Amino acid sequence: MAWTDIPTWTLVVAKTIMETVRAKDPATYEHCIRVSRSARLLAKAAGLDEMDQRIVEFAGLFHDIGKIGVPDSILLKPAKLTEAEFNVMKSHPEKSVQILTPLTAIEFYQRLIPGVLHHHERYDGKGYPACLKGEEVPLTARLILVVDTFDAMTETRAYRKGLPDEVAYRELKDFAGRQFDPHLVKIFLEARPTWTEADMKIFAEMNNDVLKRAG
Ligand SMILES: [Fe+2]
Repeated sequence: MAWTDIPTWTLVVAKTIMETVRAKDPATYEHCIRVSRSARLLAKAAGLDEMDQRIVEFAGLFHDIGKIGVPDSILLKPAKLTEAEFNVMKSHPEKSVQILTPLTAIEFYQRLIPGVLHHHERYDGKGYPACLKGEEVPLTARLILVVDTFDAMTETRAYRKGLPDEVAYRELKDFAGRQFDPHLVKIFLEARPTWTEADMKIFAEMNNDVLKRAG
């Protein structure tokens, strides 16, 4: 399978899904875009081939789309969630998969599912939804978890200022081997400071590619 084998109409559907996320919650949309770009760059730094980088990129793009199925009172709550609310929030990876399921008739989209479903598993087995442990957690999901957590820590929201990069790096290091795959944390810590603005424009390029092909 090559990138050019992916039918153009599916990329148009992908854009439509993302516009739905943007309409519901712009912050989640922006987060998904950043995670998608960073996940691809981390996949590249980890030595994955071009097609696997695309799989990680798209799994990163879609990882949180299930949040459109979470009530605003929980999704947008500017305070700590109660246990019951957190349990609703925890259903979002499964909801993401549910939204993507019609596209899984196409092999490329089928291959995104493990990364999307398991992006909240932890290396120590204390994550969700399946409590997978260590390398049982699909590589795509382990890659997304690192960049997803880094983005969540450094992002500034209306009610909370993001942490400086250096503090977030330290957190990743502290939780390597517990929450994160330690090998991937090492690669991220080496690679992230070298990423340029141009590197971060990968998604914009993809959009142009989609528009050209959908022409
Ligand atoms: Fe998530």
